[in-house]
Amino acid sequence: MSNIAVLVSGRGSNLQAIIDSIENGYLKSRITVVISDVGNAYALERAKKHGIDAVFINPGNFASKELYEKEVLKVLKKHGSELVLLAGYMRILGKTLLEAFRDRMLNIHPALLPAFPGLHAQKQAFDHGVKVAGCTVHFVDETLDCGPIILQRCVEVKEDDTSETLADRILEQEHKIYPEAVKLFVENRLRIEGRKVRIIES
Ligand code: GRF
Repeated sequence: MSNIAVLVSGRGSNLQAIIDSIENGYLKSRITVVISDVGNAYALERAKKHGIDAVFINPGNFASKELYEKEVLKVLKKHGSELVLLAGYMRILGKTLLEAFRDRMLNIHPALLPAFPGLHAQKQAFDHGVKVAGCTVHFVDETLDCGPIILQRCVEVKEDDTSETLADRILEQEHKIYPEAVKLFVENRLRIEGRKVRIIES
């Protein structure tokens, strides 16, 4: 049983997918805390509805990223966090959290990385005219959205797509691969070998 912490900033649909996967028995883990850097993030409500500790830490109350992250780390430690999931967390990670959770922090990104890192990835891909879009779960490191890739899923772009309809279909796949990647992690089936992540057969 792994203790998972989820960092969020917004609506929390990926958080919900993880909660659902735990509640339906797919994931043998528990979420011990959800931390948001945005006070009115709907993700906090979702956590509370499921009896999960939901904590707002206001970055504005701290003089530096380091001090803010030290507070986040304190809360993570207090909740015995073993794995940290970024789920729509809109901050670039600093040294404090990266070092404390090296190889134990995952992120979901709505593009087939390394294409289209950063913000509005679905729109970047759509505007670029890709025929295949998708999403990626990866380990978090110092790079922006470029840590070792765990899982990816493709989504075909249709002739009548808009960037919004495409984003909706990508999101459906995000909700599948994030729990799958977390399951691989908690079952200790991931091996980071340089840039590559080897998945051990069960
Ligand atoms: C998702 O598209 C995720 O890939 C990206 O931010 C969005 C968060 O959505 N990192 P939600 O808050 O999980 O609904």
